[in-house]
Amino acid sequence: MPVAERRRYSPAADRNRDPILDALRPHFPAEGVVLEIASGSGQHAGHFAPALPAGVFWQASDPDAEARASVAAWCGGVANIALPALALDVTTSDWHHALGAGRVRLIVCINMIHIAPWAAAEGLLRGAAVLDAPVFLYGPFKRGGRHTAPSNAAFDASLRAQDPAWGVRDLDDVAALARSAGFVAPSASEMPANNLSVYLGRRPAPP
Ligand SMILES: C[S@@+](CC[C@H](N)C(=O)[O-])C[C@H]1O[C@@H](n2cnc3c(N)ncnc32)[C@H](O)[C@@H]1O
Repeated sequence: MPVAERRRYSPAADRNRDPILDALRPHFPAEGVVLEIASGSGQHAGHFAPALPAGVFWQASDPDAEARASVAAWCGGVANIALPALALDVTTSDWHHALGAGRVRLIVCINMIHIAPWAAAEGLLRGAAVLDAPVFLYGPFKRGGRHTAPSNAAFDASLRAQDPAWGVRDLDDVAALARSAGFVAPSASEMPANNLSVYLGRRPAPP
């Protein structure tokens, strides 16, 4: 198949890429690797990687082979990308073994934890804790048990109709999970279209 035809296209990824980049940029490391979990089409990777400081690389990943082919199609020749995208499924117990110790300085996961079972959020933070890397999440969240907009409530219902294990997560549940995995309290910022960006820093090891 011609490379261009392997490209998946997400209109939402085009709409949200600049606000997400603005939120991400302050968290970019000065060295090492930014690991993206659930890269999907690869549009975000292709847009964010060239904005990294020189010498920092964006490593895309997705468990879905067609998504990885799409990442390759969007990102071939893009600056600061480490290809191929890795086949990482964060519900597997050892997904973090694919990454060298100490190389990953930030993990980015956009629009995944609500379109996967809660075990994916658990696995994501468990592996991130082993890698000792902070995590940046983006997507819709409930706050204090409530949806923040009717559109998010409708989206949640449509997700649960597709798979009862999916659904918009509550930021309080993410915070509790993060705390148990050694992260500090989430730093959440409101984003367009009733989404949040959520930064989970690592809790410093006791002296
Ligand atoms: C809605 S797409 C989001 C893609 C992209 N981040 C974006 O915002 O356009 C969700 C992605 O999560 C991936 N995914 C689902 N379960 C996963 C898991 N257990 N581990 C890693 N990625 C997963 C899917 O393959 C899919 O590419």
